[in-house]
Amino acid sequence: MYRETNFCIERIIFCVLMLISYYFNRLEAADTCNTSIFPSTFKFGAGTSAFQIEGGWNEDGKSRSSWDWLSNTYSIYLNNATGNVASDSYHQYKQDVASMVAMGLQNYKFSLSWSRILPKGLNYSINQAGVKYYHNLLDELEAAGIEPLVTIYHWDTPYALDLLGGWTNPKMVDYFVAYADIAFSLFGDRVKLWATINEPKSFCEGILSVLVNIFPELPIGTYEYLCGHYAILAHAKAYRLYKKKYQATQQGRVSLILNLSCNMGLTNSTADQEAAERKNLFEFGWFAHPIVYGDYPDIMQVVIANNSASQGFLISRLPKFTSSEKLLIKGAYDFIMVNTYTSYMVTMANYSNSPSYQNDLQTSTSQSSEWLSSGLSTLKVHPEGTRKVLKWISDTYSSPEIIITENGFSDNTAILNDTDRIRFINATLTNIRLSMCSDSVNVTGYFYWSLIDSMEWNNGYTVKFGLVQVDFDSENRTRTLKDSAYYYKNLIQTRLIIG
Ligand code: NOJ
Repeated sequence: MYRETNFCIERIIFCVLMLISYYFNRLEAADTCNTSIFPSTFKFGAGTSAFQIEGGWNEDGKSRSSWDWLSNTYSIYLNNATGNVASDSYHQYKQDVASMVAMGLQNYKFSLSWSRILPKGLNYSINQAGVKYYHNLLDELEAAGIEPLVTIYHWDTPYALDLLGGWTNPKMVDYFVAYADIAFSLFGDRVKLWATINEPKSFCEGILSVLVNIFPELPIGTYEYLCGHYAILAHAKAYRLYKKKYQATQQGRVSLILNLSCNMGLTNSTADQEAAERKNLFEFGWFAHPIVYGDYPDIMQVVIANNSASQGFLISRLPKFTSSEKLLIKGAYDFIMVNTYTSYMVTMANYSNSPSYQNDLQTSTSQSSEWLSSGLSTLKVHPEGTRKVLKWISDTYSSPEIIITENGFSDNTAILNDTDRIRFINATLTNIRLSMCSDSVNVTGYFYWSLIDSMEWNNGYTVKFGLVQVDFDSENRTRTLKDSAYYYKNLIQTRLIIG
């Protein structure tokens, strides 16, 4: 009886919301920008990445990736976790798609595992079982009417290529392009949204805090910029290849995914405002300036050249693009994809004269004690920051189309009644809609991170971002939709943000 009454109430609420949504849609059609409702063309999705969810790390011909090697050799630095089973999506992709269907998801972002498709890293031997896995997943998505956004590289380098220097090897550009070529040719008939590379800053610089424990001799301050340089060239060459070889028949759109936090001056002083701008340029401009304008931001070129000289280097630690490379990279994007999570207050720090990206950046950051904490200590909640991030990108890069490819809230409990996550999504979307209506920023999509709980890199399984809970203690990794998944479902259906 109670359940029936509840069901009726739910239906009535749903009908009322649909009516309101219909009314607001009419307003939208009448050319007003309503801050409470998203247009029907706006893409709502959720994302994952191969290493974080698939497991099946050595099955059916897959070879080890950098993260398989790292987690099976030095799990001590990853909260004693490996990705060997992870969320078991290699076996349970059908359950994943069933969860997407249950929450009415329209778009799904996932990544391909390079070493599952090319176990040697190189294109001379393709692992058909690995290819089949992604075909199966795409079949399942197609049957459910869910549009894929596919990331070609989300940090899991084939270990074979790491043995050749990974992203610090100039040949990595060609290796990546050969792999991207295979991905486009195999899956491009049904993938229309491509991300070449996810968050180069994270695997070129962020990962160093883990790697220095294992390789104290790592040439910090050089590693970051070599890695970033070849990642930019690899992206641009893959982009050009797509345009030349596939665009006419496949008609997809290609870009790379960059991350940016909201960086605000600690105070209103000019020095602090400049410090925040400097951090934006080192964080996002490092990759976005070359792709949009054809070269690194001036401030990076000057600071790194000066610091390198004072440290005794004969040439700058920041590599230079040749003139033909500048032509190659400039304009190599169809839209901008950004991952954004949190905000920082920024001020300049004392300069320490040892080579490193962090010393070149030379800023220090803090977060307000008033912001809610989350499962990751560095990611305090400040949804207003998303609007500022969008505005900065729009102002700095001539109003491009922007898709938010990651944004999410983590906890450490995977609680089903996840009201903090619901509040986070609602507040963030409120700011995104304000950005669209009041700041005229061209945002066309939002992908919540992540669809399901998964392996959170060096935090192992202690941090959960998912809309769907995965029980990592159960052998079959049972999946259960959290309340946030139902909230998201309602939002996707009605397009309404609840005030
Ligand atoms: C960025 C990465 O792309 C993703 O893999 C990670 O899980 C989230 N941010 C959260 O840290």
